Amino acid sequence: EAPGPLRGWRALVTSGPTHEPIDPVRYIANRSSGKQGHAIAGALARLGASVTLVSGPTREPDPDGVAMVHVESARDMLAACQDALPVDVAVCAAAVADWRVRAMSSQKLKKEGGQLPALELAENPDILATLSRPGRMRPGLVVGFAAETEKVVAHARAKLARKGCDWIVANDVSPSSGTFGGTSNTVHLLRGDTLEDWPPLSKEEVAQRLAAAIADHLVGTGAE
Ligand code: C5P
Repeated sequence: EAPGPLRGWRALVTSGPTHEPIDPVRYIANRSSGKQGHAIAGALARLGASVTLVSGPTREPDPDGVAMVHVESARDMLAACQDALPVDVAVCAAAVADWRVRAMSSQKLKKEGGQLPALELAENPDILATLSRPGRMRPGLVVGFAAETEKVVAHARAKLARKGCDWIVANDVSPSSGTFGGTSNTVHLLRGDTLEDWPPLSKEEVAQRLAAAIADHLVGTGAE
């Protein structure tokens, strides 16, 4: 643990995509680099927090000073998150696949034979909503992400209510925002009813600002 305002505080971060197996060689996934989630985990660790980073498969190096848990599927990600509890703050930045294949084939599906495979899907658990449920193990602060292309703030407000989390980082991914494929990220931080518009920032800067806001909320550092 680094010395810092979050020394002694525990954080959980999810990052990256999940991979949902179709058969031993194929999977369903979301596109996600894991850059934002990994940067948040690193920023919280630099402020002194004990960080568990639960990540799906990414090309990102493990951030310094965090306890890594590498997972593949949404169900594994949820189990790893629950194993990491209790924590003071959870930040769900992973791009979790909404569906998995109901019954994974234990053998590679063959294209010979003329018949197309039919994939029956099942709904994956919502990790953010599950962690946000009231109860003894609920983190004191639960932060989710919302990537929107339009009505960014209205959709983020609805998502905050639906998921039961405390804060939403709403990400403007409309073509005009330049977020996709670009280095800068235009986000709005919604804390309950309070909305803050952030200027275009790098993912690293978004992570630092979010970590500072979390530290300020938990320990009142005034560092924001
Ligand atoms: O519902 P939607 O995917 O737009 O919500 C995004 C937020 O919910 C992100 O914080 C994401 O990490 C989280 N999420 C989750 N588990 C899911 C789906 C989304 O934790 N199955």
